[in-house]
Amino acid sequence: MSLYFHSPSPSACPLEYHPDSKHALPSRSSRIRCALNNNDMQSPLSSPPIKVDRRDMLLGLGGLYGATTGMNAHADPIMPPDPSSHYSCKLAVEDNFPRCSEFLQCCPPYQDQNVEVTDYTFPKTSLRVRRPIQDVANDSEYMEKYKTAIQKMKALPETDPRNFIQQSKIHCAYCNEALPKKCDPNATISVHNSWIFLPWHRYYLHFFERILGKLIGDDTFALPYWNFDNPNGMTIPSIFTDPDSPLYDDRRDTGHYPPKIVDYKYKYTDRDVTDDALIAENLAYMSTTFKEGVPLPELFMGDSLRAMENPSNTSPGQMEVIHNSIHMWVGESKVPHRDMGTFVTAARDCIFYALHANVDRLWSFYRALRSNRYEFKDRDWLDATFIFFNEDGQVVRVKIEDSLNASKLCYTYKESPAPWLGQVAKKKTKVKIPGSQVQVNEFGSERKELDKAIQVLVKRPKKSRSKSEKENEGEVLFIQDIIVSDGKKARFDVYIDAPAAPDRASADNIGEFAGSFVKLPDTEQAAKASKDKKRLLKLGISSILEDFGIEDADNIVVTIVPQFGSVSIGGVFIKLIKTDVNSV
Ligand code: C2O
Repeated sequence: MSLYFHSPSPSACPLEYHPDSKHALPSRSSRIRCALNNNDMQSPLSSPPIKVDRRDMLLGLGGLYGATTGMNAHADPIMPPDPSSHYSCKLAVEDNFPRCSEFLQCCPPYQDQNVEVTDYTFPKTSLRVRRPIQDVANDSEYMEKYKTAIQKMKALPETDPRNFIQQSKIHCAYCNEALPKKCDPNATISVHNSWIFLPWHRYYLHFFERILGKLIGDDTFALPYWNFDNPNGMTIPSIFTDPDSPLYDDRRDTGHYPPKIVDYKYKYTDRDVTDDALIAENLAYMSTTFKEGVPLPELFMGDSLRAMENPSNTSPGQMEVIHNSIHMWVGESKVPHRDMGTFVTAARDCIFYALHANVDRLWSFYRALRSNRYEFKDRDWLDATFIFFNEDGQVVRVKIEDSLNASKLCYTYKESPAPWLGQVAKKKTKVKIPGSQVQVNEFGSERKELDKAIQVLVKRPKKSRSKSEKENEGEVLFIQDIIVSDGKKARFDVYIDAPAAPDRASADNIGEFAGSFVKLPDTEQAAKASKDKKRLLKLGISSILEDFGIEDADNIVVTIVPQFGSVSIGGVFIKLIKTDVNSV
């Protein structure tokens, strides 16, 4: 089966970009006006041509869905801090970073009494085409521009909000709950771990990219993407490893420089497997993330987060979890894991933006697979609002709904094959349970310490479901009330299997990988603040049960394998959750 993905963005720009053409980058003579069609949100006619196989259709990959507008039951969207009220930005960094605290104070320069916040005027200039790094690496003209732009950004005065370090502080502040919420100054904003994650980072890149373009006077300039989901892109791109380049950062795990293959399940040690095996595992993980996530957006995007809500017990999407592991894999191996390995410093490495460009591309891809219908029709998602600095250094306001229209943001991606989308090798991988054999029991009511792997027998709400039942409801494994006792880094992996077969669910073969919980290292301060926080992990298991013929089991064995950190969990159960496949 071959699956090709064309033009991930619903391009409503009047002039077409042809991703197949080798000479497709828009030249100055063929300027594309982008903002002419801002009103045609989500036209189902603009969905890209995608071929999907029948089984994927079953799981909701594909189909034709129109735009809908949602009910507004809550009216409690996330709002940005009010920069004119002289809010107190809590500094997210101190104790861990004594050497550089003076410029790592994580507050972007919003604190001006008279700052004017305006609604963002979407660009009417040329379409920007983000290309994979394997493509741009040998394009010397492009590379020159890219490096010059970054250099210029680093050279801006430190007080300029467009300065490279200032830009990284925006991420630091939003990612580390340094900014109080407008509605509740005691609560803070975090853009990780919820449905905010993908749209916030989309905007962050948008403005970063436009600032770079402005600095070199090129309104077609586009960031490249690190194609880490493609076997050709699974190493740290060499454009970032030249110590003489402005793209270089010396705070990385250099042991992971090429030819080391990235590990989506990284646990601070390199695994003793072949490159091919690692690539296959990565592809399988990506494949599961899409198969489970397409019919059930909360599994891909993350759970809902509203303004008056505490960001507790929201599950991140598995796309975010994979991205967490890549952060850790790139960052320094030692505490405090600068730069990429912890969110406060991550955006100080140029590779951050390349990583996120691909995360954003994968989201576009995901949206196209869903015919660009809204992931959530909830106004609290669509109206959630952020502020950024535009390319002129002015504070502008944007909301999530507008980020769903690629033509509004005036950019697209040059395609790259997505090998994980097709038939991923369905080879059962033998995974050993580390440590001693554990008794398989029901979870019970007691909280359990994950000091060793545990195996839990979990009852399924329904077995042998029909096609249409599966289309209407996805089967989701919940691991709830997760506590990371010191608030620091943690990881556990989850495997499932049927209890029946003799070679299955034994200590030697714990079944199929379903997903992970990954908490990035934090500063002492943030760790202290979050150490009693309960967290949730939701993993889709419908496709795994089907692919591996476990569909008829009454119960499944869930094996939870701790990898690092001190974690305990409060419950494991399975629930059927309504997909949005038939909700149009
Ligand atoms: Cu806000 Cu990759 O993180």
